[in-house]
Amino acid sequence: MSSAGAVDLSVRIGALRLRNPILAASGTFGYGLEFAHLVDLNRLGGFVTKGLSREPIEGAPAPRLCETPSGMLNAVGLQNVGVRAFVAEKLPALRKFNAAVIANVFGYTLEDYIEVIQVLEDAEGLAGYELNVSCPNVKKGVCSSAAIHRR
Ligand SMILES: Cc1cc2nc3c(=O)[nH]c(=O)nc-3n(C[C@H](O)[C@H](O)[C@H](O)COP(=O)(O)O)c2cc1C
Repeated sequence: MSSAGAVDLSVRIGALRLRNPILAASGTFGYGLEFAHLVDLNRLGGFVTKGLSREPIEGAPAPRLCETPSGMLNAVGLQNVGVRAFVAEKLPALRKFNAAVIANVFGYTLEDYIEVIQVLEDAEGLAGYELNVSCPNVKKGVCSSAAIHRR
């Protein structure tokens, strides 16, 4: 019988190869680093960062989370350090792990998405992007997918 470590769990999503199909969802796993003392990041297929925007965003005022009989409601309001601080302060430490790092990107205009991705393209260490085109818990909303496809 083979040991668990010998089993090939790798998956492909387009050009992206993950060592296994476990991806932590955006916003549930911070920038990954916060969980490094709880989870061996090297054992994940990858994780998706908190949503990243052009400028830092403080997010919604507390309370942001509410437990319900059937789960949990949240309204974090897309709090994040901003894409440039992510590249300068988080990405260097993330590069030391094997897990694929997928950047979640959001904005209010098409230009916002382009600028955030340009900053990330100039940095080393990302495996891909996830575009957030719908966030129900911010008043202003984020850019709709229709706008993304316009060009
Ligand atoms: C606390 C919290 C924060 C989240 N933040 C983001 C975010 O910043 N960007 C995003 O695209 N999705 C965010 N999400 C959505 C998750 O990535 C995921 O899509 C959602 O939890 C549904 O996943 P499920 O169907 O596996 O429960 C957040 C979810 C939670 C619970």
